[in-house]
Amino acid sequence: RKTLAGAIGFAILLGGATGAQAQDPIVIKFSHVVANDTPKGEGAQMLQKLVKERLGDKVKIEVYPNSSLYDDTKGLNALLTGDVQLLAPSMAKLGEYSPSVQLMDLPFLFDDMNAVTRFEQGPGGKQILESMQDHDILGLAYWHNGMRQLTADKPLIEPRDARGLKLRVEPSDVLAAQIKELHAIPRKMAFGEVYQGMQTGVIDGQGGNTWSNIYTQKWNEVQSDMTESNNGVLDYMLITNAKFWNGLPDDVRTTLNEIIAEVTTSVNEKADQLNEEAKQSIASSGTTKIHELTPEQVKAWRDAMAPVIDEFRDEIGSDLIDAAQQSNN
Ligand code: LMR
Repeated sequence: RKTLAGAIGFAILLGGATGAQAQDPIVIKFSHVVANDTPKGEGAQMLQKLVKERLGDKVKIEVYPNSSLYDDTKGLNALLTGDVQLLAPSMAKLGEYSPSVQLMDLPFLFDDMNAVTRFEQGPGGKQILESMQDHDILGLAYWHNGMRQLTADKPLIEPRDARGLKLRVEPSDVLAAQIKELHAIPRKMAFGEVYQGMQTGVIDGQGGNTWSNIYTQKWNEVQSDMTESNNGVLDYMLITNAKFWNGLPDDVRTTLNEIIAEVTTSVNEKADQLNEEAKQSIASSGTTKIHELTPEQVKAWRDAMAPVIDEFRDEIGSDLIDAAQQSNN
């Protein structure tokens, strides 16, 4: 729905972008919630560096890591109002803006990160990237983190071990539904509040996050047990405000797109390695027992969470779910 206020806002954004070109650099604020030494944290810094090298007199990227500017919910609001220009939220934060993006939260959908890449590079991936345009949110790229692992203050080996536990999830109905299938209690909570939640016992654990996030947030220091469950994927979409982006001078936007393509390749090549390093660091820190699952145990978790796929099938779209499953072959 276009409003007069929207049209005026657009004109101001456009005026701001082109007017600034002659004198001051265009400032692009990039807010995120994770540490610098994670796939997204490194990606944001590389983007900042390449933009400085190639567009230094025209564009300046300011990076705000570790929820230092906004948590993800406030960040998304700020993107819509023009107070921040770049975000790379986990897609679990975007369900409110697009039913199809919830695909990425389905349990055990992708066998590994290569399958995720294959899906994202295909037509389904393109469809999801473009699915939030009604909200003026433009998807620029997919950045990898990795597979999700369970943690708790007790061993989680069989699905019944999670019964009654309060487990943190991102603000995603699909992720919450998976926890309910385990007869556990989902607690939607901002990323920056999880450590304290674990420390004070507000939550008993969390329903899946990556090795690199768990280690850099020190969750392992307040969780006695960790399960190598690979029960889902945590992947990012680099997003911007469509009006802001389309209002940039053409040459600037073209160079930014080139830089983003380069950074995306680098992030996606390095993500596995960063997660592997974090896994080793958790193992050697001795804070937390890491449990590997047998194929039968993995199947039990997969079967326990599987009803969620049909529960959300119509909302997400059967074709997209089929395409994602086919990317495993
Ligand atoms: C989370 O909230 O657990 C993640 O989405 C944080 C992130 O950006 O990786």
